[in-house]
Amino acid sequence: MSTASLFLLPLLVLPALAQLTVTFSPANSTTCLAKGASDALTFSTGAIPSYSTCFNFNEVFADNSSTDTGTALADFDYTISGAQAFDSQTNYSYVHYQQTNTTGTIKAGKVAALQLDVFPGQDCQEVGKPIETWYGWSCQSNTTGECDEVPYGVKSFSVSAASDGSKCYDFAKEGKAAAGVAQASRFAMAFAVLAVGLALFA
Ligand SMILES: *[C@@H]1O[C@H](CO)[C@@H](O)[C@H](O)[C@H]1NC(C)=O
Ligand SMILES: *[C@@H]1O[C@H](CO)[C@@H](O)[C@H](O)[C@H]1NC(C)=O
Ligand SMILES: *[C@@H]1O[C@H](CO)[C@@H](O)[C@H](O)[C@H]1NC(C)=O
Ligand SMILES: *[C@@H]1O[C@H](CO)[C@@H](O)[C@H](O)[C@H]1NC(C)=O
Ligand SMILES: *[C@@H]1O[C@H](CO)[C@@H](O)[C@H](O)[C@H]1NC(C)=O
Repeated sequence: MSTASLFLLPLLVLPALAQLTVTFSPANSTTCLAKGASDALTFSTGAIPSYSTCFNFNEVFADNSSTDTGTALADFDYTISGAQAFDSQTNYSYVHYQQTNTTGTIKAGKVAALQLDVFPGQDCQEVGKPIETWYGWSCQSNTTGECDEVPYGVKSFSVSAASDGSKCYDFAKEGKAAAGVAQASRFAMAFAVLAVGLALFA
């Protein structure tokens, strides 16, 4: 089965549930694995939660079933897959993010229904020395989604309703550089790094 058809599979199987789909892959995969790949962990939901909900990897992916639909850890429906491969020692650093609206304007870069934030610590905490920060997404992606890499192993993630308005962010460190278009934050971060680099040389 080709990678493309693996990505299409959830859309065919779960037409009503494909609002947000996020797939986490181990750091040594060197890229985002497709949903259904043996080491990939996938979470998806079509719900819009009434308040921010935090999921710990070692809880949501802990039940060792290959697929699960439930409300076990939240007051809304979600689906997981790949949990049989979950390893608490693995650094899950690759985040494949795919979110398209089911209502309103459906367009990459426009504000999405949900906000996804990922964290290096349990219980959606920032940890480490120096401190590792959260990264977030609240813009719609295109239909195939995007592959992003965080500089740590994700231990927890939160799902909440995206805030109203025209601004959203795409793979933004601490939600900074909120932008109206996808990827602006990535460019902003690149420029910030460049600016720091130039300042050091000056
Ligand atoms: C990544 O590491 C795990 C655990 O050591 C190993 O089972 C897996 O084969 C590795 N994957 C790759 C692509 O190297
Ligand atoms: C999880 O499921 C796999 C496949 O069914 C099995 O080989 C493994 O022993 C199970 N692990 C635990 C901790 O139950
Ligand atoms: C996970 O990342 C941490 C911090 O970057 C590192 O110390 C650790 O060796 C990594 N673990 C694996 C299994 O690669
Ligand atoms: C996407 O859907 C959410 C929730 O229904 C809505 O608040 C938002 O305005 C929509 N985005 C656009 C660009 O229509
Ligand atoms: C979707 O966006 C990703 C990341 O920006 C890009 O690599 C990919 O080519 C895009 N796919 C389509 C069908 O536009």
